[in-house]
Amino acid sequence: MIDDPLSGVRDGYDRWASVYDHDGNPLPALEEPHVREALGDVRGCRVLDLGCGTGRHAAWLAEAGARVTAVDFSEGMLQQARHQLAGADVRFVVHDLHERLPFGDASFDAVVSGLVLEHLRDLDGFFREARRVLTARGRAVMSAMHPAMFLRDSRARFTDPDTGEVVAPGSLPHRLGDFVMAAVRAGFALNDVAEYAPDAGFVRQYPRAASYEGWPMLAVLAMQPDPAVTRTATPSPAASPTPPCSARPGSTDSRSAGPSGC
Ligand SMILES: C[S@@+](CC[C@H](N)C(=O)[O-])C[C@H]1O[C@@H](n2cnc3c(N)ncnc32)[C@H](O)[C@@H]1O
Repeated sequence: MIDDPLSGVRDGYDRWASVYDHDGNPLPALEEPHVREALGDVRGCRVLDLGCGTGRHAAWLAEAGARVTAVDFSEGMLQQARHQLAGADVRFVVHDLHERLPFGDASFDAVVSGLVLEHLRDLDGFFREARRVLTARGRAVMSAMHPAMFLRDSRARFTDPDTGEVVAPGSLPHRLGDFVMAAVRAGFALNDVAEYAPDAGFVRQYPRAASYEGWPMLAVLAMQPDPAVTRTATPSPAASPTPPCSARPGSTDSRSAGPSGC
């Protein structure tokens, strides 16, 4: 029988949940500013957060005025997210990302997914579903632990606070090209494929990143539906890192954005 390297992902994150936000993991800190910048203004947008975990992205998205739907299959992570985001405009959905998403076609203006790709077997299915639920003028930003981290034998892992055991929930060593080509095959046009390494200043703040100074830890894909493969008759948006979604920051009249703002 062949072992499934992903069989422990859900349980692993259930165990990780209580300490996930406080265990000094440098990757979310390195990632967040880049994802925020790539997503741009989300005011009034319907945003889908795939693999939301404890709600790190959902929290700032809701704060920035988005209507957020946040999906994860770990009840433990979702419990933390619900607790931390009580009162925020976030709808949580328990769902396995290896299955078809429980949302209609073109029902979101933006899709974000933070640090999930290494846990997914079917990248084609994941990107295809992200594209399906996105409007023709939408945008998507997906981040991943950089595949170069696997060359250093690094992957998602944590120390279980109850047992002291080091636990790796389960990851697959995808290549950067696997992400890119899955996105292209799903009908995305790539605006950017960015790779980030911690610098000395970051390492001072996050000492756990010390051995990775100058080493690519993070990849971020910024995409939008490729007009050339968009099936609808909707006019094609021009390629832009921050496609029109809502009123721009500083706008004095957000009414023009309409009910969804997008
Ligand atoms: C590294 S955490 C990232 C959480 C959050 N996006 C962030 O960046 O802080 C990965 C998340 O993906 C979720 N995940 C992994 N595989 C999944 C799957 N097949 N279906 C749903 N969620 C999954 C895990 O439960 C976990 O919450």
